[in-house]
Amino acid sequence: MRRVVCPGSFDPVTNGHLDIIGRSARLYDEVTVAVLINVEKSSLFTVDERIDILQAVTKDIPNVKVRKFHGLLVDFCRQNDIPAIVKGIRVVSDFDYELQMAQLNYRMSGVETLFMPTNPEYSFLSSSRVKEIARYGGDVSGLVPDLVHKLLIERLRG
Ligand code: PNS
Repeated sequence: MRRVVCPGSFDPVTNGHLDIIGRSARLYDEVTVAVLINVEKSSLFTVDERIDILQAVTKDIPNVKVRKFHGLLVDFCRQNDIPAIVKGIRVVSDFDYELQMAQLNYRMSGVETLFMPTNPEYSFLSSSRVKEIARYGGDVSGLVPDLVHKLLIERLRG
């Protein structure tokens, strides 16, 4: 079985993430969406909330599963017998950062990284920008799944 992992913070998942997850699911037998447990970074949604959201918005893609992890991504890959990581690249500056991480991950473990160009429709999109726009009352519909839109409004209101 060909397996790949789509890792990230997903705080919250955006339509850009979903595009990469969906396209990966067409290429691989099984896609594991891995949510980083990062105690050093404050987040809007808890890890378990993010997992519930990811499960809801990927429920129609049968070969996607959602898990959490802490520590090194390559350890998670080894523990779950996943030989490759897929990363979306939005802009050239993403590549600088991702290349270094991909090379380190390969050096540490032999786990490969595949880069997938983001759909240009979403190349400007990030979870941080979505939160900022929503926090100040801007409209994020079309940038995130409807469920996330609803939850963002609930969470950030008042
Ligand atoms: O959505 P994000 O926050 O850009 O995702 C970053 C993530 C989770 C993919 C990255 O920070 C990660 O893999 N963290 C786990 C720790 C690790 O393995 N670091 C790489 C060392 S080269």
